[in-house]
Amino acid sequence: MKEKLNLIKESALNAISAATDEKAIEEIRVSVLGKKGELTAILKQMGGLSPEERPIVGQLANKIRAEIEAAVDSAKKAFAAESENKKLKEEKIDITMPSKPAKVGKLHPLNTVLNDMIDIFQSMGFDVVDGPEVETDHYNFEALNVPQDHPARDMQDTFYLAENLLLRTQTSAAQIRTMETRKPPIKIICPGRVFRADEVDATHSPVFHQIEGLVVDKNITMCDLKGVLEQFAHEIYGPDTEVKFRPSFFPFTEPSVEVDVTCSECKGKGCRVCKGSGWIEILGAGMVHPRVLSACGIDPEEYSGFAFGIGLDRLTTTRYKISDIRLLFENDLRFLDQF
Ligand code: DAH
Repeated sequence: MKEKLNLIKESALNAISAATDEKAIEEIRVSVLGKKGELTAILKQMGGLSPEERPIVGQLANKIRAEIEAAVDSAKKAFAAESENKKLKEEKIDITMPSKPAKVGKLHPLNTVLNDMIDIFQSMGFDVVDGPEVETDHYNFEALNVPQDHPARDMQDTFYLAENLLLRTQTSAAQIRTMETRKPPIKIICPGRVFRADEVDATHSPVFHQIEGLVVDKNITMCDLKGVLEQFAHEIYGPDTEVKFRPSFFPFTEPSVEVDVTCSECKGKGCRVCKGSGWIEILGAGMVHPRVLSACGIDPEEYSGFAFGIGLDRLTTTRYKISDIRLLFENDLRFLDQF
């Protein structure tokens, strides 16, 4: 019996050291130490032993059981540690790795330039007002001294929504709305989108942006117009920039001017940006036509005013050397990320 017990021990320990996983160990444990196991079976036969032999064999059996149990235990622990290590290795997270950069939004270049312009005019005492993009013929044309058959309507190809309803072709419509609701002194700018049925190319877009300005008070003269617009041009383009007032025509101003500044690209020498002229046109302006004042209930004998309309898109493309106006409207992040 002692021999049998030693054989069981030996084969169990051999099997344990040959086992390749935790499951195999458990199978060995059951087959040796389990209720129907080899060792258990032997112990059941102990009844047939003499009273002298019984305690000796019993002791040996207990010792062997303990040895096998210890071997099973340590083998199980070794396998558990091994699989834990493997898992840790596989699921390793490198906390020293740099994280993905979080994308922070930024202002569209048009808004950056617009904010600068608003700052300049606000510092000169202008209020910022808003106006609707869908306008009536009255506000966009009629009240601005552009009657039905006026040739100036051909200058502005209009998107009509209904017979009397259109997408505003100029922010000048805001002049009328302002004069209808405010009493002089008036000093406002109105930035916004305008729409014209233009062919799209590198310098034309059916949607673009203007900033309308209007000043109405007693004794407002062409000198005030020049002073304000020169100041504006110097703040936007720098104090060395020359500003040129060219006679022009708009139905809602008399006299009318267009304002050019020295090309910031070539400093007036002439280049591709200014088409060789050395000048860039940035706005139209003039003294508010007496008929426009009257149409809004303001007495042109008592009050006078000046108005201007600045193109925001050209200012933006020249400042940032953007070669194609369409880039401003496509919202391609590769482009916008550069500002
Ligand atoms: N509305 C004109 C345009 O779209 C620009 C303009 C010219 C606005 C003269 C004015 C102005 O207020 O007085 O071309």
